[in-house]
Amino acid sequence: MESIGVLMACPMSAYLEQELEKRFKLFRFWQFPQKAQFLKEHSASIRAVVGNASAGADAELVDALPKLEIVSSFSVGLDKVDLAKCKEKGIRVTNTPDVLTDDVADLAIGLCLAVLRRICESDRYVRSGKWKKGDYKLTTKFSGKTVGIIGLGRIGTAVAKRAEAFNCPISYYSRREKTDCNYKYYPSLIELASNCHILIVACPLTEETRHIINREVIDALGPKGILINIGRGPHVDESELVSALLERRLGGAGLDVFEKEPEVPEELFGLENVVLLPHVGSGTVETRQVMADLVIGNLEAHFLNKPLLTPVV
Ligand code: DGY
Repeated sequence: MESIGVLMACPMSAYLEQELEKRFKLFRFWQFPQKAQFLKEHSASIRAVVGNASAGADAELVDALPKLEIVSSFSVGLDKVDLAKCKEKGIRVTNTPDVLTDDVADLAIGLCLAVLRRICESDRYVRSGKWKKGDYKLTTKFSGKTVGIIGLGRIGTAVAKRAEAFNCPISYYSRREKTDCNYKYYPSLIELASNCHILIVACPLTEETRHIINREVIDALGPKGILINIGRGPHVDESELVSALLERRLGGAGLDVFEKEPEVPEELFGLENVVLLPHVGSGTVETRQVMADLVIGNLEAHFLNKPLLTPVV
């Protein structure tokens, strides 16, 4: 397969890069500042794109690659891939479901604990040497708090199971009610937000869910409410979130994702009631390796005319 051109859309994982290089003719898109020139020279030899949560295959790129056959994403979320365009052109699409569910769900609970129990703030306090004065702040209990989840798919369900172990009553909002669980269903997001302490975003990003967290939802969650986002930055209207946090209309937030990654609103840096992470939901050594193997497995299956391991389109 050494002659098959594979375009890696952005830097992802050294292991993935190395394994792709061993098998295919690898092009690293980020190393070519003149994209138009690069595409003019190489588009005819590129038969696969490897993307992730930061860069994938939008309509423009798909149209610029006449020999493109498959987009293999190093992520479960496919908001950076134009699925409709790929479908229309008969281009296959794969992602990495299931293998990262535990890590992302673990991190959601980690963020709940970090925000409510002020773990990061307390760490900064100890490092500053102020402990000696004994003026540390009390924190807020997590066990037993009502957890509202937006999206009860694989990740949302895994978060719910973990939160149950903390005796948290679970409620959720999604397009339709699930028949296979006993969690309380709210057909209205405002109702869910008004009735939970912690609201966790765990749904895919689509046109429907963009800015699903707006001022109304934030105000329904209220000054004691905590927002946790392990989905995608654009789920949240970030300027509304920042205003609510600055004005204390929201109790706190744990954010793994941001609207314009890697940019983070600077106003958040001075707030102690927020925990900010650099989109690391699936970022464990173990999981990233399994994800990389899945990306490669899908490409190999495609080029050997075998069934794809995790097809989406
Ligand atoms: C995904 O796989 O969509 C995650 O956001 C990557 O960390």
